[in-house]
Formats: sequence, structure tokens, C-alpha cells
Amino acid sequence: MRTMTILGSPRRQGNTAKVLGWIESQFQADGHEVNRANILDYRVQGCGECMACKRGTIELCSISDDANELYRRMVSADLVLIAAPIFCWGFPAQIKGLLDRMFCLMDMAGEQPAAPWRADKPMGLLLTGGGEETDNADLVIRGFEQLVQWLKGRMVGHLYVGGCTDPEAIGDDVERRAIEFAGAITRKVAGEMLHCTAEGLKRPGTHESLTH
Ligand SMILES: Cc1cc2nc3c(=O)[nH]c(=O)nc-3n(C[C@H](O)[C@H](O)[C@H](O)COP(=O)(O)O)c2cc1C
Repeated sequence: MRTMTILGSPRRQGNTAKVLGWIESQFQADGHEVNRANILDYRVQGCGECMACKRGTIELCSISDDANELYRRMVSADLVLIAAPIFCWGFPAQIKGLLDRMFCLMDMAGEQPAAPWRADKPMGLLLTGGGEETDNADLVIRGFEQLVQWLKGRMVGHLYVGGCTDPEAIGDDVERRAIEFAGAITRKVAGEMLHCTAEGLKRPGTHESLTH
């Protein structure tokens, strides 16, 4: 399976990078390909709200920076895992533009005949933070789930690692949770890919309840 991970932290060797490293090692140990993009290596600005992506004339985003390259890589992956620290009950600015501009992958009224995004794209989320899950990470997870739903993707799981201080303080218990998480989400996707092949590419509908 081809996995794509996107590290959206301002720190290359921070808490999120450490936990993501364990997840990626497990993906590889289970025989999956890992394609990581560190957002710091790409130029991705915020959405300009030009709405060009909704006029049916362009395939992805009209802004000519590196976002479209990342979207193409996401399109060809079997599983996309976004990894980020929580900043002020949301995503850090470094990755926010990439997430916002996924708007160009949403075919909301059939206006994008060439939309390359495969329905049911499996997506997962890793978050690290200093605080608890309640009234903190849960808000970010909920927002991300909503984004995935609007993308007609499929949320395969999330892992929140709270109480983070420095990377050195992240212990074996978190490593175990990261390994379990990695195994659980890839097994889920692999099982569904198998089911999908057996059923002649029929997949159960999973996003009938889009809410505004
Ligand atoms: C500007 C800023 C805002 C933060 N906001 C939150 C927050 O809202 N909730 C939380 O749990 N942690 C918050 N934190 C803590 C970070 O999410 C946490 O330290 C995280 O693990 C850092 O990951 P990194 O080392 O990959 O950057 C914040 C940290 C900074 C620097």
C-alpha cells in the first residue's frame, strides 16, 4: 500500500515528527511504502478565495506554488495521514493553507468534471498537543473529520498525543500507541481494498450525511 504522510509542524524534530516517525516505521515494517512530505520544504500560501477551482476550467488550484504537487501525490496515495501539533485549538499556519485549499478537491455541485480525487480516499490524523483531548484536540479532530467528509474521503482513524513538552519526554507508552495506530489504520484500508476488489470495485457509501 502507498501511504503519504504530511508533517505540518514548524519543528522538523519536534514532538509530532517523533511520533510520526514511529508510525512510518511501522508502516514500513508491515511492507507499506511511505512517502513523506514535510510542509517546511514546500511553498504553500493561503487560499485566495478566487473560486477559479469551482468554474470547471482548472483541475486543481489556480495558485502556482507547491500545493498542487502535494495534492497530486495525495491523489495517488492509498492512505493520506496528516500530522500536526495543535496551535490555538487549530492547525498551525504552516499546514493550514494546504488544508484550506483542499477546497479545490471538493466537487460540491458537479462543477469539476475532471476532479481527480477518488471518492472514499482513506485519511487519518495524528495530533500532538500540550493539553487534554477534551475542549482542545476534540475540536481539531471534529473539524478535520468535517473536512474529510466534504472531500468525500473516509476518516480511518486519529491519534492524539496530549501532555507533550519536549520530544525527549515522549515515552515508550506513546511509541506503543503509535505502532498500534499504524497497524490499525493500514489493516483497515487493506481490508477494504481487498473487499473492494472482491466486490468488483463496489464500495459501501459512507458519506451520505453531509451537514452544513
Ligand atoms: C503557538 C502555540 C500554540 C499552542 N496551542 C496549543 C493548543 O491550543 N492546545 C494544545 O494542546 N497545545 C498547544 N500547544 C502545544 C503544542 O501543540 C505541543 O507542544 C506540540 O506537541 C508541539 O509539536 P511540535 O514539536 O511538533 O511542534 C501550542 C504551542 C504553541 C507554540
